Amino acid sequence: MLIEQQKSLLDYNTFHIDEYARYFTTVQNEKELQLVLESEIAKEQELFILGGGSNVLLTHEVNGLVIRNQMKGIEIIYEDDSIAKVKFQAGESWHHCVLWCVEQNLGGIENLSFIPGTIGAAPIQNIGAYGAELKDVFVELEAMHICLKQRKVFMKNECNFGYRNSIFKTEAKGKYIILSVTLQLSKKPQFNTSYGHIQDELNSMGVTELNLKAVSDAIIRIRQSKLPDPAMIGNAGSFFKNPSVSESEFEILHKKYNDMPFFKNNEAVKIPAAWLIEHCHPDNALSWKGYRELNFGVHIKQALCLVNYSDANGRDILGLSERIITSVQQAFNITLEREVNIW
Ligand code: EPU
Repeated sequence: MLIEQQKSLLDYNTFHIDEYARYFTTVQNEKELQLVLESEIAKEQELFILGGGSNVLLTHEVNGLVIRNQMKGIEIIYEDDSIAKVKFQAGESWHHCVLWCVEQNLGGIENLSFIPGTIGAAPIQNIGAYGAELKDVFVELEAMHICLKQRKVFMKNECNFGYRNSIFKTEAKGKYIILSVTLQLSKKPQFNTSYGHIQDELNSMGVTELNLKAVSDAIIRIRQSKLPDPAMIGNAGSFFKNPSVSESEFEILHKKYNDMPFFKNNEAVKIPAAWLIEHCHPDNALSWKGYRELNFGVHIKQALCLVNYSDANGRDILGLSERIITSVQQAFNITLEREVNIW
């Protein structure tokens, strides 16, 4: 077990922010994790758990011990004629797991193709895209309580999943390290192509008979066309959550802005934060969408995505997010919440 000091996190966060960790280590299995947790450094320092670094903005040196979870392994733990339960170790790349399922003809997560990050991070924010959410296929996860150094299994109903939310962002925040995640996948996939432009993309690909690979490929193509590739431009996907307002608040807004898109769910109405951001720059001649300062800004094709063009620091990006929150608040009286974790 090697615990490094003053380690640059540049290669470990998709925003490509060059901040240092006071201490840094990588764990490949549970034994290594146990050893790290028993070390003097772990006992003295605040712990920060890093998966793929795809949902974090580093705003200063991380004053503690960063543990990068690289536990690998995929195992079918149960199967019958119609389903398979698959246990994924937390350090596996999410997209690699999606491709593995597609190859095995196991359906359920193909609409979540090409999301950066690890399996272990997926339940924390209940990742979602194109009409699917992790919670739809989630069975259970195993986690290690950091202080007690004991394993605990969290069943689905204990995770309190919500829109981009779970117990690991609320009561259990910072208390556990996720070790593995078990998902239930279908051997008789039901395709969900009704969201957004999936069907158009399948048509333009010339797909006449649906299969998991075609749906996954369509999602990859849509994401590549709309979202910046973190390998090219630093970013962490959606920086903000889509806000919900009550029906009565929505009626008032909709009278004023007839073209405001919306999605009704139960009593609440969800409004795309991207639209709000695009339509609220304090100078009416400008838009936050595509707004750029020297080395950071708002992506030109997706107003929800803040980007680092080269060597921006996290404080500048955080400052931009604050200015955007103020603009949206002033224009629409809606308070945007950040989706990205600020370190
Ligand atoms: N829109 C704009 N301006 C933009 C982009 C979008 O006005 O710059 C409007 C359009 O009306 C569009 C609507 O917003 O119809 C919704 O846009 P989109 O389908 O691109 O989705 P989103 O609400 O912006 C959410 C997720 C994404 C996910 C997509 C697709 C959140 C915070 N984000 O974005 O997730 O990929 O739906 O399902 O819920 C992520 O979490 O990192 C992420 C990328």
